[in-house]
Amino acid sequence: MKALVLSGGMGLRLRPFSHSTPKQLIPLANKPVLVHVVEALKSLDVTEIGIVVGDRPEKIAEALGDGSELGVRLTYIQQDAPRGLAHCVAISRDFLGDDDFVMYLGDNLLTEGVVEMAREFRAHRPAAQLVVHQVADPREFGVAEVDRTGRVLRLVEKPENPVSDLALVGVYFFTPVIHQAVAAVEASTRGELEITDAIQWLVASGADVQARTYTGYWKDAGRIEDVLACNRELLDRLKPAVDGEVDAESELIGTVVVEAGARIVRSRITGPAVVGAGALIEGSSIGPHTSIGEDCLLREAQLSDTIVLDRATVQGVRSIRGSVIGREASITSADADASHRLIVGDHARVEVAA
Ligand code: G1P
Repeated sequence: MKALVLSGGMGLRLRPFSHSTPKQLIPLANKPVLVHVVEALKSLDVTEIGIVVGDRPEKIAEALGDGSELGVRLTYIQQDAPRGLAHCVAISRDFLGDDDFVMYLGDNLLTEGVVEMAREFRAHRPAAQLVVHQVADPREFGVAEVDRTGRVLRLVEKPENPVSDLALVGVYFFTPVIHQAVAAVEASTRGELEITDAIQWLVASGADVQARTYTGYWKDAGRIEDVLACNRELLDRLKPAVDGEVDAESELIGTVVVEAGARIVRSRITGPAVVGAGALIEGSSIGPHTSIGEDCLLREAQLSDTIVLDRATVQGVRSIRGSVIGREASITSADADASHRLIVGDHARVEVAA
């Protein structure tokens, strides 16, 4: 079985970060979402992976290379514009050949994995097998109507009046018959070739389409609040490891990872938290639920529930919470006149404690 990871999309809801980086590279517990996805695929014994890329493909190639460091083989497939999930399948035809494949949205986090579902798909090979999850408001998803045996009776993309609360999470197992379905459907009202329509075409043609319910933690890291929630969830699963230096005046409480070359000086780190390689934390109080990227400088800073990306600086600022601080961004305390001075990038969002 191969895998097709969809890593296009504009990431408008993740601006300003998506201005400079594809959204799938936003780090969660100091690892890009896309790396979490590749690791999830490896756990299914799938190592032949195609990645459909859109905007700034070179950034993704820079981060993941040919996949050898992750123990997989990556093939990049360029999509000219976000034309829908079924379009991604169509342009990947050469890579996929006549193999079965698992399609996985590149910004989806399923912490419990789908190992059992992959095993079942391999054993029975229905035309398609979908991963669904019970949600409170199915209207923003593809929705599956499923009988008691797990067979899909009907699928609708973003229905106004959903007949079921089972949403498609963005992980699909396909046999090659999907290519016929993809060729048969037309663009939806949002102008995209919908995979949901292609699978519904299979259902209507009498093919065996199955759904299996995933009950673990699932989130599409599409908005900043979701990114922070995913970060918390992954940090909660962290295993402690201290490879950097922690001086005698510092204290680590709970699960803390201090990567090699990081230095903790006169500081308190409350886990779960991770401090990236080469970072310097001095006179600060960090965590819980905080990820500090590589080569960051935090001095006299106090942060919790926050993601700090590589090479950012925070000095003399207390009470930062629920925040994401971009690469090489700098946050310092203002001069004595106590006014705020903000050099804020396009589409950034700042909430100050007035
Ligand atoms: C896509 C699919 C939808 C699915 C969702 C999961 O929606 O079309 O069926 O439920 O991903 O995240 P989109 O994110 O393109 O709106």
